[in-house]
Amino acid sequence: MTIKSLLALASAAVLLAGPSTALTWPGPRPSTKQTARKFLDKRQYFPANATDVKTITSPTNVTIRYKMPGEAGICETTPGVNSYAGYIDMAPNVHMFFWFFESRNNPAADPLSLWLNGGPGSDSLIGLFEELGPCRITEDLKSVINPYSWNNVSNMLFLSQPVGTGFSYQGEAIGSFDADTGAFLNTSQANATGRYPILDPIDLGTIDTTDLAAEAAWHVLQAFMSALPSLDAKVGCSKEFNLWTESYGGHYGPAFWNHFYQQNLLIFNDTIPGYALNFNSLGIGNGIIDEAIQAAYYPEFAVNNTYGIKAYNDTVYSYAKFANFMFNGCLDQINYCRAAAAGINGGLINNGQTLTYAATSNPDLRVQCQEAADMCRDNVESPYYYYGSRGVYDIRHPFNDVTPPGYYIEYLNLPQIQNALGVNVNYTESNNDIYWAFQASRSHRQSSGDFIYTNFIEDLEMILDSGVRVSLFYGDADYICNWFGGQAISLALNYTHSAEFAAAGYQPLMYDGVEYGEVRQYGNFSFTRVYESGHEVPYYQPQAALAIFNRTLNHFNLADGTMPVTANLTSSGPANATHTAPYVSLPPTGSASFAVWSSSLIASYSSLDNVPPSPTG
Ligand SMILES: *[C@@H]1O[C@H](CO)[C@@H](O)[C@H](O)[C@H]1NC(C)=O
Ligand SMILES: *[C@@H]1O[C@H](CO)[C@@H](O)[C@H](O)[C@H]1NC(C)=O
Ligand SMILES: *[C@@H]1O[C@H](CO)[C@@H](O)[C@H](O)[C@H]1NC(C)=O
Ligand SMILES: *[C@@H]1O[C@H](CO)[C@@H](O)[C@H](O)[C@H]1NC(C)=O
Ligand SMILES: *[C@@H]1O[C@H](CO)[C@@H](O)[C@H](O)[C@H]1NC(C)=O
Ligand SMILES: *[C@@H]1O[C@H](CO)[C@@H](O)[C@H](O)[C@H]1NC(C)=O
Ligand SMILES: *[C@@H]1O[C@H](CO)[C@@H](O)[C@H](O)[C@H]1NC(C)=O
Ligand SMILES: *[C@@H]1O[C@H](CO)[C@@H](O)[C@H](O)[C@H]1NC(C)=O
Ligand SMILES: *[C@@H]1O[C@H](CO)[C@@H](O)[C@H](O)[C@H]1NC(C)=O
Ligand SMILES: *[C@@H]1O[C@H](CO)[C@@H](O)[C@H](O)[C@H]1NC(C)=O
Ligand SMILES: *[C@@H]1O[C@H](CO)[C@@H](O)[C@H](O)[C@H]1NC(C)=O
Ligand SMILES: *[C@@H]1O[C@H](CO)[C@@H](O)[C@H](O)[C@H]1NC(C)=O
Repeated sequence: MTIKSLLALASAAVLLAGPSTALTWPGPRPSTKQTARKFLDKRQYFPANATDVKTITSPTNVTIRYKMPGEAGICETTPGVNSYAGYIDMAPNVHMFFWFFESRNNPAADPLSLWLNGGPGSDSLIGLFEELGPCRITEDLKSVINPYSWNNVSNMLFLSQPVGTGFSYQGEAIGSFDADTGAFLNTSQANATGRYPILDPIDLGTIDTTDLAAEAAWHVLQAFMSALPSLDAKVGCSKEFNLWTESYGGHYGPAFWNHFYQQNLLIFNDTIPGYALNFNSLGIGNGIIDEAIQAAYYPEFAVNNTYGIKAYNDTVYSYAKFANFMFNGCLDQINYCRAAAAGINGGLINNGQTLTYAATSNPDLRVQCQEAADMCRDNVESPYYYYGSRGVYDIRHPFNDVTPPGYYIEYLNLPQIQNALGVNVNYTESNNDIYWAFQASRSHRQSSGDFIYTNFIEDLEMILDSGVRVSLFYGDADYICNWFGGQAISLALNYTHSAEFAAAGYQPLMYDGVEYGEVRQYGNFSFTRVYESGHEVPYYQPQAALAIFNRTLNHFNLADGTMPVTANLTSSGPANATHTAPYVSLPPTGSASFAVWSSSLIASYSSLDNVPPSPTG
């Protein structure tokens, strides 16, 4: 069975995580196939319990079990830069995996930044290893230093959330994963391949909305922040706090930030005890923030992008476009979901944008919202996956995309690495049970429809009005969260300075004399289009990504980092980001020539990490 027909079986549910995910699930991607072959000849071992794990208790009475992987030569090996990995044990059945890296610059003075990947159910170690972390893993499973790591300018916390994602677990069980659905199977259902995190009890009490995930994450951060001075005295109490995220993080970022903000207010007036987060910035890379706004740009981007690629014909284009606007189509269905919330006392607040728990915990509302999510994804977004032959996360690449290569998954399944990280479970980059719970219909359970909730625009507007710096940045070759949709979001936000923002022009994004993109900025808010980049911007353009992160954190203008951000800082240039790139044809399809093409493509991206850093940033 081809990957495409497997995808068809599984409807439109392509994970919003990274290039790897669409191909890991439902069909294996090339590098995973090689892995399977490599392990086939070997006996299967189940991970042992880690040895020499240290334990501390946070002031909030939460146990933190950890090891220092850098001391074992894993990932961050820069002399003097410590790293900590392990579990924050929130409850007997909630164990959250974290990996914390000191800044390479000045850990005591530099801010603390939390990185979250999306999914939902996709692990933040995707970002650590494939994008912005201190190291990358090579094909021969060696860890090499990433000179464009974001810990060059900030202490970095990677958290695997919600529970069940990555190494985070509720329970553990020996088993495997269904090849088609990606769901966990126990030993009576299939032959075991390892020991894995399981949701406890599976399908009940699972975190299935962004707002619930935000509450859980706040509690985890409380434990971590309060324990940080005893975990790492060098860093001590954390300074400014930043949240940077990607993809489904278009939901996570705004909602988490809003929740953390509300909690801060309650802490400030002594309503609850807690550790107030000292907000600095929110960053969202290629995020799905609001489907009602972004859906329209799936068909547009498919046929009229800046690479001169027409991924499907006019018949398919008209269908996808019509499916958005037609009676009972995507937009109508989203409004039905909202209307259902409005009919529940306290279900819809904030100008009819925010669905509250009163609404989203109601089973009938969930059916309506899930219908909407299915309608939009199946008919507006997905025709590209069946009728185009281009990459989900990079339109320049074939559907069977080999970038970024997921070598780190094999690496994290080696016994010595498991021991060094303090884990005794096998690694998977995405938990499909969580994905289904948030996202899409499935026979034996009901999803929340969180994908199409309209809350996140409102959250972003509140954040902008509260004076936090917000940077949106979109790689311009990504289809699934394309920059047309991201730009539309930036212009649709209704906040104090919307008019000034819209009036600001697009200015080139410069780093070391090279133009990496175009940015519109007014004061604290910016939208950057990054050229020649797929979904995971820091993989495709490490220089530009670090520049965006560094300049945002340190209050410099995004375009060139030469001016401090003032309230009326205004980028200047044309009203539209019109840069185009040459057409990219698809590679040869024969397996040998495809392999040669793939290796050279991967090598060309790896070589970006060898570009000497600019002395002026
Ligand atoms: C699980 O981890 C063990 C090492 O502890 C390894 O031998 C096994 O191959 C891993 N399973 C998978 C599916 O990667
Ligand atoms: C491994 O640790 C678990 C607790 O996390 C414990 O129940 C189990 O007995 C340990 N296994 C071995 C072989 O020590
Ligand atoms: C801390 O939690 C443990 C259970 O994990 C409990 O036994 C103990 O009483 C708690 N201590 C405080 C001070 O709350
Ligand atoms: C499970 O393992 C048994 C024994 O090794 C083997 O005969 C069988 O084919 C396996 N089943 C599957 C579905 O791989
Ligand atoms: C504390 O602040 C919250 C949020 O602003 C407000 O709802 C609440 O009434 C305040 N409580 C007190 C005791 O002032
Ligand atoms: C492509 O988009 C541009 C800019 O929005 C527009 O001017 C042009 O008419 C579009 N072309 C097609 C074929 O739709
Ligand atoms: C457009 O593409 C679809 C899907 O491949 C195909 O069924 C249809 O015949 C095509 N239409 C035209 C006019 O080429
Ligand atoms: C923007 O927000 C203001 C204040 O909430 C409201 O009066 C106005 O109608 C909103 N504008 C749009 C275009 O939604
Ligand atoms: C920003 O405000 C300052 C002081 O109010 C003013 O001098 C400056 O001209 C303004 N800059 C822009 C770009 O509007
Ligand atoms: C240029 O940008 C404006 C918003 O700033 C938008 O309304 C317009 O459609 C854009 N034009 C083109 C040709 O893309
Ligand atoms: C990041 O830090 C490392 C180690 O200190 C250094 O070698 C590298 O040049 C730095 N990268 C940048 C972009 O400044
Ligand atoms: C961060 O940006 C500032 C301002 O442009 C620059 O001076 C500094 O070198 C940059 N740091 C890195 C690591 O790029």
